[in-house]
Amino acid sequence: MTNRRDMLAYFTEVNRAYIHPFGNRGTEYLMQKMDLKGNERVLEVGFGTGTTLVGMKARLPGLRLEGVEASVAMLEKARKRLRFCGLENKVRLHLATREGSWPDLSPDFDLIFSESVFAIQEGEGLKHMAELAGSKLKAGGRLLLNDLVWRRSTPPEVIEKINTQGKAGFGIIQANALYPAAEDWIRLFEKSGFRVLACERPDDMRLPRHRILTFAEFRSRVYSGLGKGISRLNRRLRREWRAYEALMNGAFSGNAKYLEPVIFVLEK
Ligand SMILES: C[S@@+](CC[C@H](N)C(=O)[O-])C[C@H]1O[C@@H](n2cnc3c(N)ncnc32)[C@H](O)[C@@H]1O
Repeated sequence: MTNRRDMLAYFTEVNRAYIHPFGNRGTEYLMQKMDLKGNERVLEVGFGTGTTLVGMKARLPGLRLEGVEASVAMLEKARKRLRFCGLENKVRLHLATREGSWPDLSPDFDLIFSESVFAIQEGEGLKHMAELAGSKLKAGGRLLLNDLVWRRSTPPEVIEKINTQGKAGFGIIQANALYPAAEDWIRLFEKSGFRVLACERPDDMRLPRHRILTFAEFRSRVYSGLGKGISRLNRRLRREWRAYEALMNGAFSGNAKYLEPVIFVLEK
């Protein structure tokens, strides 16, 4: 339907940070929920351009932090961000196989987290991710997710229509259709061996706001800012963003009411 590239490829090129519900405040909230001591083994699934990896490693240098990504381009971008922030070789980055497995990762993580990755898996891809995460956690380890899911009241035909539009316009679905609502995710996680500790709909107003940045995080902001600058100066990128914006303000504009942000805290 379109010859535009995947929106995630655009986000990669422009160093986009925090591509998930509530942006950096959502991540901050998730980190509060993690309640880390600072020496745990932690994995981020689908780290994108690596902003959260920088933030976590800068604030908790003793963390044994790793990340796994499906996209080579994103992984390279995250590596560059880590280097730019003085954290090169401090975080281990892995590429998922084409089949979506993580053979390089040993099964003893204390905590796995992910933001806006599980929901965009299609069909049984979501179940696969839940099982994969479970297989890499130690007993008692936790999985924390910040995702956008369908409201329980959203009819299947609306989900189908929005996901078809999303695939055509942005290259990704909006959220998994086989396990649409938070309640379906809970059942899926329970079947995959998890105990659900929390399933929260965060309140925007109560999310954390200001915080003093570490030097590496400040550099990371500069890195994101450089990407933003390029996106404004480069005519091709400007044109591409305008096309996405037209879609978001047009066919997609009424879709937000069908979705809700949810934070899951799960224990293996
Ligand atoms: C919407 S972006 C979110 C990126 C990052 N978590 C953030 O919030 O800024 C989704 C990311 O997940 C990655 N991804 C998608 N499916 C994946 C999978 N099965 N395994 C690992 N990464 C995946 C994509 O390449 C992309 O970088």
